[in-house]
Amino acid sequence: MSQETWTAVDEYIVGKLVPTDEALEAALSASVEAELPAINVTRNQGKLLHLLARVQQARSVLEIGTLGGYSTIWLARALPAGGRLVTLEADPHHAGVARSNIERAGLSGLVELREGPALETLPGVESAGYAPFDLVFIDADKPNNANYLQWALKLSRPGTLIIVDNAVRRGSVVDEQETDPRVRGTRALYDALAAEPRLSATAMQTVGSKGYDGFVLAVVNQ
Ligand code: SAH
Ligand code: DHB
Ligand code: MG
Repeated sequence: MSQETWTAVDEYIVGKLVPTDEALEAALSASVEAELPAINVTRNQGKLLHLLARVQQARSVLEIGTLGGYSTIWLARALPAGGRLVTLEADPHHAGVARSNIERAGLSGLVELREGPALETLPGVESAGYAPFDLVFIDADKPNNANYLQWALKLSRPGTLIIVDNAVRRGSVVDEQETDPRVRGTRALYDALAAEPRLSATAMQTVGSKGYDGFVLAVVNQ
């Protein structure tokens, strides 16, 4: 199997099951135009996040790592009227592109973007009284993954779904000698999950147009 095949199959899946949509496509093209890194979730991954939020009947979502707001739009579209999505982004340029993409998608009323390093903005999310969140999507700086997991737990309730992107990183996650701080951060996340009795977790490997990676899924126990 090759990257070419994975991309072709992603295109097939998207063609069949993920209809093109003006606001989502505009968010992607505006992100390219603004030279954001091309590390957003893929179209079919975005729809997966959306479906998981619907299964969860989520009314409140916390996202850590907005980029251009592509995953934000997919998640926010799963919310009912009166729902809320709080998304945290450190980079002011990314935040600006995301605000405009979220506005174009007609979601400014549901989405609150808080700018700044997430470990500095999370205390404000807590004191705003927005917790507990029904779903938390962690997709920011990987060295802080274990810290974000602790925050997700603090802002959760029994039944909250926690999703973490980039759980496999082309398989490098199994390499104990790996020095890349992003891989080490993800390994630290697995250690924290393994030691956490409040969570029931697994991870799924994925291939597609973004290469070989994966998601962690964890549910807060009753
Ligand atoms: N969830 C997005 C992709 C996020 S990429 C999507 O799928 O569409 C990761 C983002 O995390 C980048 O925009 C990066 O600027 C941001 N980030 C990096 N460090 C951060 C930090 N300490 N706090 C908040 N965001 C951070
Ligand atoms: C990177 C970050 C991501 O969130 C992602 O989905 C892919 C790559 C990165 O920092 O390399
Ligand atoms: Mg990611």
